[in-house]
Amino acid sequence: MAEKKRELVLSGVQPSAAQVHLGNYLGAMKRFVTLSQQYDTIVCIVDLHALTTVWDAQALRENTVSLAAAYLAIGMEPSRAIIFRQSDVAEVCELTWYLACQFPLGLLERATSLKDAKAKAKVVNSGLMYYPVLMAADILLYRSTKVPVGADQKQHLEMTREVAQKFNNAYGDVFPLPEPLIEEDTGVIVGLDGRKMSKSYDNYIGLFEDSKKVRKKVMKIVTDSKSVEDEKDPDTCNVFTLYKFFASQQEQAALAEKYRAGGMGYGEAKQALFESIEREISPMRDKYNDLMSRPDDLRDVLADGARRAREIAGVTMASVREAVGVGSIL
Ligand code: AMP
Ligand code: TRP
Repeated sequence: MAEKKRELVLSGVQPSAAQVHLGNYLGAMKRFVTLSQQYDTIVCIVDLHALTTVWDAQALRENTVSLAAAYLAIGMEPSRAIIFRQSDVAEVCELTWYLACQFPLGLLERATSLKDAKAKAKVVNSGLMYYPVLMAADILLYRSTKVPVGADQKQHLEMTREVAQKFNNAYGDVFPLPEPLIEEDTGVIVGLDGRKMSKSYDNYIGLFEDSKKVRKKVMKIVTDSKSVEDEKDPDTCNVFTLYKFFASQQEQAALAEKYRAGGMGYGEAKQALFESIEREISPMRDKYNDLMSRPDDLRDVLADGARRAREIAGVTMASVREAVGVGSIL
């Protein structure tokens, strides 16, 4: 019988804001927990990626601690997964260079993330151009095979596969080709204004914002201007789109029915959404707040994660150095 392929799940989230949002949670992080119950899993706080946009050292440290607490609060357990900070394993920068030397420049210039950055800012730092190479290094350094992400990362995963293939063609079979895990229904979570929920659009609901703020934001979700009496379409409504992720099938059917019957205002749908979010998130929020009051414990988790990640990285890098010819000379 063929030996079962060993899978390794890896993903990363940038500590680029004080808190992650519901888009990060539903699009990626929630799945880390279930996957970690099935596979060897590594989750990374990609602070080197965040340096492309965060230039305040204290903020970067605080965001990092907050993200570590968020991983634990949603249910990641250090006994089931390695939780670590990217910069604690410096080899990722070394691997970035070896990969850069195989990465066609044209591929980097075509990256949607770079085009978006150019559209937003006059001066674009070259870290933004190397962003996909660093991400490929994250994935390949641990020889990951499955990468759960939101739809916006699809192109980065394609680039990772392409560079892994180029590297293997040049040097032999060093890296497995990683597979993206992108879910159709959670690939793009919409924000308050109906666009993709994103830190940069300021249309997000923070995962652990206090319940008053969450309610206020939910009440701001953009809807059409139908009156209470009008029949409404749940399938085109931003409120209902979010509700689907937090409500049971039965609850969804009941609310959809109210939409279609008319006689329900959007305020009522928003209240139902708020309550469903609260039901799922509030126990996690309590855990998050508790963890944030114990930063030393969070540091211990990250230190242990870094030690375990370094061990794996060391093994990969020994074969990479040997393959490219910078290891032992004779
Ligand atoms: P980032 O905050 O850019 O590091 O994103 C972390 C993870 O969240 C990545 O897997 C993203 O694809 C995912 N993500 C971010 N925003 C959204 C969104 N609005 N919908 C679905 N996934 C998202
Ligand atoms: N680029 C990803 C994002 O913005 C974050 C990331 C960095 C990542 N390294 C990774 C995701 C490795 C998955 C695997 O969302």
